[in-house]
Amino acid sequence: MSEGIKIVTIGGGSSYTPELVEGFIKRYDELPVRELWLVDIEAGKEKLETVGAMAKRMVKAAGVDCEVHLTLDRREALKDADFVTTQLRVGLLDARILDERIPLSHGLIGQETNGAGGIFKALRTVPVILDIVEDMKELCPDAWLINFTNPAGMVTEAVLRYGNWDKVVGLCNIPVNAVFEEAELLGENNRDLFFQFAGINHLHWHTITDKNGKDRTDELIKVMYGQDDAKSIVANIKDNNLIWEQVENLHMVPCPYHNYYYYTDKMLAEELEDFKNNGTRAEKVKEIEHELFELYKDPNLDYKPKQLAERGGARYSDAACEIINSIHNDKRTTMTVSTRNNGTITDLPAESAVEVTCTITGKGPVPYNFGSFKPQERGLLQVMKSMEELTIEAAVTGDYGTLLQAFTMNPLITSGDVAKEVMDELLEAHKHYLPAFFK
Ligand code: G6P
Repeated sequence: MSEGIKIVTIGGGSSYTPELVEGFIKRYDELPVRELWLVDIEAGKEKLETVGAMAKRMVKAAGVDCEVHLTLDRREALKDADFVTTQLRVGLLDARILDERIPLSHGLIGQETNGAGGIFKALRTVPVILDIVEDMKELCPDAWLINFTNPAGMVTEAVLRYGNWDKVVGLCNIPVNAVFEEAELLGENNRDLFFQFAGINHLHWHTITDKNGKDRTDELIKVMYGQDDAKSIVANIKDNNLIWEQVENLHMVPCPYHNYYYYTDKMLAEELEDFKNNGTRAEKVKEIEHELFELYKDPNLDYKPKQLAERGGARYSDAACEIINSIHNDKRTTMTVSTRNNGTITDLPAESAVEVTCTITGKGPVPYNFGSFKPQERGLLQVMKSMEELTIEAAVTGDYGTLLQAFTMNPLITSGDVAKEVMDELLEAHKHYLPAFFK
């Protein structure tokens, strides 16, 4: 690989971009990023210009030799890239508002990753990601794709299964947050603990072992859930009070998204209450974004503002920089990412994307072997993975029946007429972004 690195960020106008820039600046000595290309589409031009100007100020203030380019021409940017990161949102936040509003108005959880909203986000996103992969084959065939576009697990699997592209890593901030927050709860330094995660994006469990080889999982479960005000490790899920007897019985720490499965009624009631009083999470995010972009416009702001932590995805971008660093320098950092299963979890197909703890080498992620889950975890995991597989297939083929199977299979969607009604309404609402369904 060349000495100076070229990074291309698709969806560069995102409010998360300053964190990415900060992450590259922090690592500049090890990872000399000389070119950072921020790419967006016409509708995102204003945001791209605002956040791009801020990125340029950050680089200048840090005194590093890195050129920041802003462009609407993806193909121009991709030429000879070393790493491509994707953080795009097809249809922008307005599409997410529909993803959450339509299901909620029928009494269903919307949820942009694992609910009806997540299914539609996948339908809109998969074709775009596959197009990007086709461009990469032609313009930067040696590059790695680091994806943090949601639903991150499904997007990664689509690239592996349908894009025939192996150099892809899917990333989520939940394991990253867990490592930081839970080490603190145990009164330990995270470097002295080994976290082993296994499952799929937003549906994984983990164990913790300390440097003396002692399993600390049950102790953490007690600290986290053995009280009434269990704290969530992520900004977009407020409550984390699972049923104690259920969590205790797992002997593995669930992720915050388990609230949706283990406590569906409570999560739905909370979302409906919020929906009635303040609107959806997507609408809240729109307000946070507005506030962030007002800050980014300040010509004196040349560092990441603390308000960015109000977004659920905080720490995403910094983790992306570390993955790139670890691949580029064969650093062999331990990180949890979405990658091809290949037998790591014996309960899931080899071709699936799984979210597991890996060593990130110069050749990409090498997973720690996991084996099989107990029935406590296995059932739900296999249902959700099958649901993901069908959703990806529907995104590629545009087949109505396949999509309806995914809908009725998802445990957060009531099956039968409700599923069909919500699905039809979402199809109509997102028609413009779903050409495969409206040939
Ligand atoms: C979480 C998830 C992300 C998700 C985000 C939503 O942390 O891991 O996958 O995108 O939060 O945050 P937002 O602020 O957009 O609601």
